[in-house]
Order: sequence, then structure tokens, then C-alpha cells
Amino acid sequence: MLHGSYKLKMLMLLILTNLLTIFIFSGPFSLSSRNNRLMIPLVLDHDSTSHLLHELNSTKAQLFASFSLIADLHHKINSTNLLVQALLIELTRERKPSVEKETDQAVKSINNDVFGIAAASSDELKLAFLPHKLPLGYSPRMGSDEIYPPIGAGCLRFHEELAQYMTYAIGGECPVDDDLAQKLILKGCEPLPRRRCHPKFPVGYVEPTPFPDSLWAIPPDSSIIWDPYTCKSYQCLIDRKNFPGYFDCKDCFDLQGREKRRWLYDRGLDYGIDQVLQTKPAGTIRIGLDIGGGSGTFAARMRERNITIITSSMNLDGPFNSFIASRGLIPIHVSISQRLPFFENTLDIVHSMHVLSNWIPDATLELTFYDIYRVLRPGGLFWLDHFFCQGSQLNQTYAPMLGRIGFKKLRWNFGKKLDRGSNKNEWYFSALLEKPMT
Ligand SMILES: *[C@@H]1O[C@H](CO)[C@@H](O)[C@H](O)[C@H]1NC(C)=O
Ligand SMILES: *[C@@H]1O[C@H](CO)[C@@H](O)[C@H](O)[C@H]1NC(C)=O
Ligand SMILES: *[C@@H]1O[C@H](CO)[C@@H](O)[C@H](O)[C@H]1NC(C)=O
Ligand SMILES: *[C@@H]1O[C@H](CO)[C@@H](O)[C@H](O)[C@H]1NC(C)=O
Repeated sequence: MLHGSYKLKMLMLLILTNLLTIFIFSGPFSLSSRNNRLMIPLVLDHDSTSHLLHELNSTKAQLFASFSLIADLHHKINSTNLLVQALLIELTRERKPSVEKETDQAVKSINNDVFGIAAASSDELKLAFLPHKLPLGYSPRMGSDEIYPPIGAGCLRFHEELAQYMTYAIGGECPVDDDLAQKLILKGCEPLPRRRCHPKFPVGYVEPTPFPDSLWAIPPDSSIIWDPYTCKSYQCLIDRKNFPGYFDCKDCFDLQGREKRRWLYDRGLDYGIDQVLQTKPAGTIRIGLDIGGGSGTFAARMRERNITIITSSMNLDGPFNSFIASRGLIPIHVSISQRLPFFENTLDIVHSMHVLSNWIPDATLELTFYDIYRVLRPGGLFWLDHFFCQGSQLNQTYAPMLGRIGFKKLRWNFGKKLDRGSNKNEWYFSALLEKPMT
């Protein structure tokens, strides 16, 4: 924080700079007041020619001087601008407790928390928070002689839940606490610390259905860990589409129902997989990611076309991750807040349906879009499927945001959201976007 005398100095400096500017404009070097008129004689004799040359020479010199004066002036105006900006920031900071102050405090309290937690708690919690020393000789490559375990900053906000999560018998069976773990993740404790215990075995586990039948087969009940959920059988998961109340992805476990038809037809907001693939040379879409991919049907349809899709999913209201895996597809359990675990310019396609929408704060959403842009290869596709928002947000917020990030529109459709429980002004849009080649 800056204090009064510093601010006063800045103000003085500001006034000085402005005075200097006025001085340059109207003082003895002033460009406007100087009389530089060239007298041209009617008859040119030798004397007047050399006089003329001399005058021309000095005019040239003056012109040169003027140029550097202008550049100088430009520079001064620039720094005045910066000063004014700094002053304004300082003044607003003074008026109300600012975001920066809060951030400072947050950082301080995080530091306190880390060491507080580490000092006060169990060895397992210390293992999760404190740095681990590297053997000698490894530091140049790592840039440090110790490694901090990567855990989400949000973890520090939820001491009790975290302490509970990190309480277990080392080498024994982990508590069945999927629900606790996922709540921590969704609150920003992502990634979670790792633990030294074994997950509970599913009762009566049998080998998975062989591929490719596994893509659409009814999975054995034992292949799914049911514990935090009310359903204890696959049939129950299918039937829940008739339950009252809202569930995430309510009907997407019923592989013989609506899932069977998804992305096969191309109409309005619904794009067909084949139509989307046809926008690129055959065979060039090979690997990708489906964000919030429910029961994995998008990946299954792509797999039938020899395309490998990783499906990210939370286990909200259902055992989505185990279900996707039982189909022989790859689930990853990361939220939309986490940096995607892929290197830049690598994926051919990223798809997301229903998940990325206006419930996500704009700042988070923009970071997510930038991250998708990062992992897509040049010419890669971002298929934003059924994004819902208010009518006014469509053109005012989301279309400009996607444009700003640099995506190119290949297809763009929007329509009123007509499904149950939506209000009048809710809209959907679907977009097929491309990361430019250069
Ligand atoms: C013009 O100025 C240059 C140096 O700036 C000088 O070398 C030259 O002699 C001058 N010419 C006349 C005609 O004054
Ligand atoms: C003034 O600032 C602008 C942008 O902030 C910069 O492009 C320009 O080069 C600066 N000019 C000078 C003379 O410093
Ligand atoms: C997928 O790959 C297999 C083996 O290379 C091939 O036989 C099959 O025709 C391919 N399917 C499609 C839809 O391209
Ligand atoms: C958004 O803008 C397009 C034209 O760019 C217009 O046709 C459409 O009606 C607008 N949508 C909404 C919901 O305002």
C-alpha cells in the first residue's frame, strides 16, 4: 500500500509533466510561435542562392529538431497517462477495501493455512501439503531442490473436510467417501491430494464385456460402485428417467432409448457426427475430448468411426465414470475449472454438450474456452453443442467472447429452449468452431 506522501509526490510529478508540456507548446522552442518564413528573392544571384541554401539548411535542421520535440512530447504524454492511471487506481483503492487487498490477504492466509495445517495436523495431511526433497543433482532440471505436491488452492478453505478426507489407515482400505471427494473437487479443491490407501473393491466384480459389444451392452451391476447413490442396479439407473425431480443427464444411462439416436441426424441445433466430420479431410479427426460427456455415448459413436475420445465427467447423481469405463471408453474425473491435462496444439476435436452454459461465471468460461483453444491443434474443431443462455447474452456476451478468443465459425445455429422447466427467454445455440491454421 502506498501512503500519502508518495501520492503527493506523484501528483506533483503529474503537474510538473503537464507544465512541461505547456512549456514546450508555448515556450521559446514552441513550434507554433517561431517565425520560420523563408524569404525568396526574385532574382537569384550567387549571394542569394547561398543565402537560400543556408536558409534551407537551417529549416531542415529546425524540422529535424521539431520531429524530436514531437517524439519527446508523445513520450511525455504517455508517461502522464500512466501516472494518471496509477493515481486513479491508488485513489479508488483508498476509497473502498479493494480486490487487491483481499488477494493479498488471501495469499497471506493461504501461507498461514499451509503451515498451520502442516504444523497442526496428521502426518498424512503434512505429506499432502509440504514439499518433498529431491536427491542432490536433480534441481537444475526441476528448477528447485524440492517438489510441492500439487493440490487445489481451494483445499485450504475446507480444513475439516480435508482433514476428514485425509484420515484413513495407511495401506488399508480407503473410506467410501466419493461424495465427500467430489464435493471438495467442485468447491475448488482440485486436484485432491493423493492418498496411501486402497479403494473399496466392488462386490462380485466380473470381467468387462469384450469390445466392441461393450459399447452398447448392459454393464454387469457389479462393475459399478454404487455406494453414494440410491440406485443399486443398472435397471434402476434406466428407470430413474421416470423419477420426479431433477437429475443430471437423467435419461443418458438408457442406451436403448434416446442415447441410441444422438448425433446420428443433422437438424437445426442437432449436428450429426458424420456431417461434422465431413467439414475436414477424411481421417484427419482422430483424437479428442468430450467435456462433461455423460454416459460416454459421444465417445462410443466416435469410436465406431475409429476416433478416440476421452470423456470428462463428474459423478453427479450417478456413477458416470465407472459406466463410461464399462463401455470400454476412457473417463477422466476432472471438473470444468481444471486446466485440461493435454499439451498445446494436440487434439483434433473438443466437444461439449449442455455443460458449458451460462451457469458458469463468465471469467471461468473464458478461461475454459482459452484452454480448449490451447489444446486444439491448428485446424482442430470445437463443437459447442446446445449451450443455453438468455437471449440477450447470446449476442452480447458469448458470440463476442468466442470471437475474441480467436475461433472461426463454421456453423452457428440458435433457437428457443423448449424443454421442460425452461423459461421463455432461454435460448440454445450450437456452434461448430475451428482453430485457425495459422
Ligand atoms: C548545411 O549543413 C551541413 C551540416 O549540417 C553543413 O555541412 C553544410 O555545409 C551546410 N550547407 C550550407 C550551404 O550551409
Ligand atoms: C506510447 O504508448 C503507446 C501504447 O501504450 C505505445 O505504442 C507508443 O509507442 C508510446 N509512445 C512513446 C513515444 O513512448
Ligand atoms: C476402423 O478401423 C478398422 C481397422 O483398421 C477398419 O477395418 C474399419 O473399416 C474402420 N472403420 C471405419 C468406420 O472407418
Ligand atoms: C443475434 O444476432 C443475429 C444477427 O447477427 C440475429 O439474427 C439474432 O436474432 C440475434 N439473436 C438474439 C437472440 O438476439
